[in-house]
Amino acid sequence: MLAAYAARVSPDTPLDALEVGERPEPEEREHWSTVEVRAASLNHHDLWSLRGVGLRSEQLPMILGTDAAGVAPDGTEVVVHGVVGADGHGVGPREPRTLLSERYPGTLAQLVSVPTANLLPKPPELTYTEAACLPTAYLTAYRMLFSVAALRPGQSVLVQGAGGGVATAAVVLGAAAGLEVTVTSRSGAKRERALSLGAAHAVETGARLPARVDAVVESVGQATWAHSVRSVKPGGTIAVCGATSGDAPPAELTRIFFQEIAVRGVTMGTREDLAALLAFCARTGVRPVIDSEVPLARVRDGLARLEAGAQTGKIVVVP
Ligand SMILES: NC(=O)c1ccc[n+]([C@@H]2O[C@H](COP(=O)([O-])OP(=O)(O)OC[C@H]3O[C@@H](n4cnc5c(N)ncnc54)[C@H](OP(=O)(O)O)[C@@H]3O)[C@@H](O)[C@H]2O)c1
Repeated sequence: MLAAYAARVSPDTPLDALEVGERPEPEEREHWSTVEVRAASLNHHDLWSLRGVGLRSEQLPMILGTDAAGVAPDGTEVVVHGVVGADGHGVGPREPRTLLSERYPGTLAQLVSVPTANLLPKPPELTYTEAACLPTAYLTAYRMLFSVAALRPGQSVLVQGAGGGVATAAVVLGAAAGLEVTVTSRSGAKRERALSLGAAHAVETGARLPARVDAVVESVGQATWAHSVRSVKPGGTIAVCGATSGDAPPAELTRIFFQEIAVRGVTMGTREDLAALLAFCARTGVRPVIDSEVPLARVRDGLARLEAGAQTGKIVVVP
């Protein structure tokens, strides 16, 4: 089958580690199902894998990709939850949590094998392309906003790095839930786009906000951390899921303890979070923001766009 995989690791030039070519089809395994992938989507995680973050050389070659929608062996339309091992279904009870493409081959392929418990029904209201955007970036944003920061309609949230996959997810989900969303971006065009997607305010990266916010969706890391700490209200929450620009900022501990700020880490979400997100999208009409679609054979173009930070929203890959 055709697949996109890390053939080696390349810390500084991730695309040098990418190959697109034939890989063996998944083998049958008890309590696992092989899904025919109809659409997958790219995440920054794929670039981290090519750089060798979380992938050891003995695990190579490794098929990339953490989310997909497709067809299960019984013909049903499904969405793949990409977190394996969190609850023991389909793997040993003591197996630590991993994401697809870390221990088990990922979704950037014609076929992917996952624990059967990781399959959720695809709502008929969503296309395969839309559904394939949800299980990583949208799931993470959903958990940050509603499970971890526990935001309610009328509250305010700052979303750092407006163009990213997680960030655009937080904008559209937050706006649909009645939150007052403020974004930052280095790009004027991306700030404009965020306003058109439902953000109430858009400022340059690092600019002072008109008022402090109830919570921050932080995925940028070093470049925005100090601004996040300064922008949240006393007692507010910073939900952090990534560190694209580096993870060694000053911790701003004095502000954190003096203002009693809660810092909460988030990695993806549970199967229940994903089911709730799918229902949210089906019922509200909210759809993921799609930057572009590329065929699997040309996934290099999509990853180059992601690496350059040129996208707004999700890049979908069609096998
Ligand atoms: N923990 C989890 O479960 C989880 C899930 C999903 C993602 N993540 C992590 O979250 C991060 C974002 O993921 P993604 O897929 O949304 O990535 P992405 O689509 O590549 O977005 C990254 C965004 O960060 C901003 N950015 C990058 N470098 C910056 C800098 N130096 N200064 C200011 N802003 C900068 C950019 O926004 P602007 O161009 O608009 O400024 C960019 O669009 C990644 O590190 C990823 O690994 C974690």
